[in-house]
Amino acid sequence: MIPFINIRAQRDAYKSEFLKAEQEVLDSGCYIGGPAVKALEAELAAFTGAKHVVTCGSGTDALTIALMALGLELEDEVIVPDFTFIAPAECVTRLGGIPKFADIDPETLQISPESIEARISEKTRGIIAVNLFGQCPDYKKIKECAQAHGLWLIEDSAQAFGATQCGQNACTFGDISITSFYPAKPLGCYGDGGALFTADEELAEKIRLIANHGSSTRYVHEICGLNSRLDAIQAAVLRVKLHHFKDELKKRQENARKYNEFFADYNNATGSANGAKIVPQKIAEGNTSTYAQYTLLVEDRKSFIEKLDAAKIPYCIHYPAPLHEQPCFKDFVQSRKAVSNNASRDYIASNAAKASQKVVSLPFCAFTDVDEIITRLKKVM
Ligand SMILES: Cc1ncc(COP(=O)(O)O)c(C=O)c1O
Repeated sequence: MIPFINIRAQRDAYKSEFLKAEQEVLDSGCYIGGPAVKALEAELAAFTGAKHVVTCGSGTDALTIALMALGLELEDEVIVPDFTFIAPAECVTRLGGIPKFADIDPETLQISPESIEARISEKTRGIIAVNLFGQCPDYKKIKECAQAHGLWLIEDSAQAFGATQCGQNACTFGDISITSFYPAKPLGCYGDGGALFTADEELAEKIRLIANHGSSTRYVHEICGLNSRLDAIQAAVLRVKLHHFKDELKKRQENARKYNEFFADYNNATGSANGAKIVPQKIAEGNTSTYAQYTLLVEDRKSFIEKLDAAKIPYCIHYPAPLHEQPCFKDFVQSRKAVSNNASRDYIASNAAKASQKVVSLPFCAFTDVDEIITRLKKVM
């Protein structure tokens, strides 16, 4: 069976390096924080160009800490994409804020700056923009919008550590940027992990304080924070992977190019008028993607999935519904009357809703045998 993400092949490829790094931590007696975590934070800063990097327990924790550091208060509104993983909207809600769902561009699937603008009210405090599937949304426009309205910006780069926009590295676009080291992410560890990035020294201090029980001096707690730390063994694993990351990004580009070529040929051969068109997520000009997901927009998804099943090719639907349709937000939105009837009608026709009916993600990582997948696809398509 072809794995959706071949983490085992990656482990085999760098096995001796992993074993050495893991053993060093196990023998050190230092399991939380310490030299491995410090060294990783310095290497992440060097890789991205971010001034300050603070690691933490997960990408979700990183979003929560970012919102706390930026001073989110009860009933504050935060604009989030309607089409993404739940974490950004969930973190806003958990802290008592109100997520306002912005629509996406129908081709790049990134949060739309025009839709952000349309969702701003006097209660809006900030924007969480997500780098969906590995590429950045239009940060020039988003930052202009944030500046014009006095809003803060969180860049959720959980899926896009290693991406660039016009030569600038992901994880440097937000007042605070975050990433996730969940195992399936482009740079993933062997458990949960995350990091925050900022150019602002004061924010960096706040972030460290919040992540460590609100404490900078032992047993003195200036604020109520939380416990969110990266384990030393995860840092050691990540340092090995980071060492190979640029090569892996090149392999990811090559794998994406092969898929793109195959689907372009397929569309040319079948013609687009028959409803069979299969279009990869568009990579916007000026962007490089990490391809955290290689995602297609497929008009006739049902029959395409039947073909994938016949060829024994695994797939995922990222994501089967826009967030405003999730049961948890439906109740939340209704009880707080955060969505007017007009806005509900907008949602029905939204690009997010349409995308959720068309998306299919194919197996993808630096170790995916895309040639084998294309050979199988050719037999069924
Ligand atoms: C866009 C986005 N934000 C945040 C997260 C949360 O990251 P974690 O799973 O490390 O908590 C994810 C995880 O999939 C994600 O895709």
